[in-house]
Amino acid sequence: MIVAMAYEHIVVEIDAPIATVTLNRPKVLNALSPAVIGELNDALASLDAEESVRAVVLTGGPKVFAAGADIGDMADRGAVEQLQRDQTGRWAPLAGFTKPLIAAVNGYALGGGCEVALMCDLIIAGDTARLGQPEINLGIIPGAGGTQRWPRTVGKYIAMEVMLTGAALTAQRAYELGIVNRVVPAEMTIPLAQRMARQIAEKPPVAVRMAKEAVLKAFEMPLSEGLASERKSFYFLFATDDQKEGMHAFLEKRKGVFKGR
Ligand code: CAA
Repeated sequence: MIVAMAYEHIVVEIDAPIATVTLNRPKVLNALSPAVIGELNDALASLDAEESVRAVVLTGGPKVFAAGADIGDMADRGAVEQLQRDQTGRWAPLAGFTKPLIAAVNGYALGGGCEVALMCDLIIAGDTARLGQPEINLGIIPGAGGTQRWPRTVGKYIAMEVMLTGAALTAQRAYELGIVNRVVPAEMTIPLAQRMARQIAEKPPVAVRMAKEAVLKAFEMPLSEGLASERKSFYFLFATDDQKEGMHAFLEKRKGVFKGR
C-alpha cells in the first residue's frame, strides 16, 4: 500500500520497504528554496525514523532534478544575513540521512541541485541528465558541498573544469568519470532507482547502515583511522541477530530473512 505524506513543495510516497521523495516545483525547475530544504529535512527525518522504510529514492521527476538554489531568494541577500540564516548549512542534514539514498536524475542537476545529488549514495542518471556547478556565472561558488565532493570523486582537474567554466557534464561524461552509477533512457531512471532501492532494502538493515557509514568515513578520515573504524563496525555486527541469520541461512542453503535486529 502506498502512503503519501503531505507537503507543499515535495511529494513523499512510502511503498514499504522503500520511499520515493519527488521535488515538486516544476515552474522554477525545482529550485531549492529554504522552504523546499525545510520540507526535505523534515521528510527525511521521518523516513529515517520509520522502521518499515529501508531505502529512499530522491528525484525531481521525469524532466528535471533541480536547477539549483532559488536565485530569487538569494539575489538581494547580504553576507551577514546569509551567515546568520546559514542558508546552505541548513542543507547539511540531507547528507546525514542514515539509510541508503538514491538520486534518480533526469534533466538538469545544477548548482545546489547537483550538490543534493552528490549527497546521495548512488546516482542513477537518465540520458537527459546534465550535472554541473554554474555558480561561477552568478558571481558565487557552490555552497552546499560542490567544491569538496566533486574533487573527492573525480579529482582536481575535472572538478576545476566544472567549477571554473560552469559548463555542465552530460550524463554519459558523468558516467565515464564515475560520478554517476548508471545511465539509462530517461523513462527508466526512476524505475531503476526504485528497483535498486528494493534490492538494497532486502539486505540486513544494520549492516547496510554500517556499510554506508564506513564508506562515507573514507572521505573524512586518514586510512589507518578508517580501517580501525571499519574493524569495529565489522565486530559490532556480530552482535546482531541478522548476522547469525545471514551466516546460518548460508550454511543451511536457504535465503536469509532479516529483521534489522
Ligand atoms: N532559481 C530560481 N528560479 C529558477 C532557477 C533557480 N536556480 N532555475 C530556473 N529558474 C526558473 C527561471 O527563472 C524560469 O522562471 P520564469 O518562467 O518565471 O521565467 C523557470 O525556472 C524556467 O527556467 P528557464 O526559462 O531559464 O528554462 P531554460 O530551459 O531556458 O533554462 C536552465 C534552464 C539552463 C537550468 C536555466 O534555468 C538556468 O540556468 N538556471 C539557473 C541555474 C543556476 O545558476 N543554478 C545555480 C544556482 S546557485 C546555487 O545553487 C548555490 C548553491 O551552491 C547552493
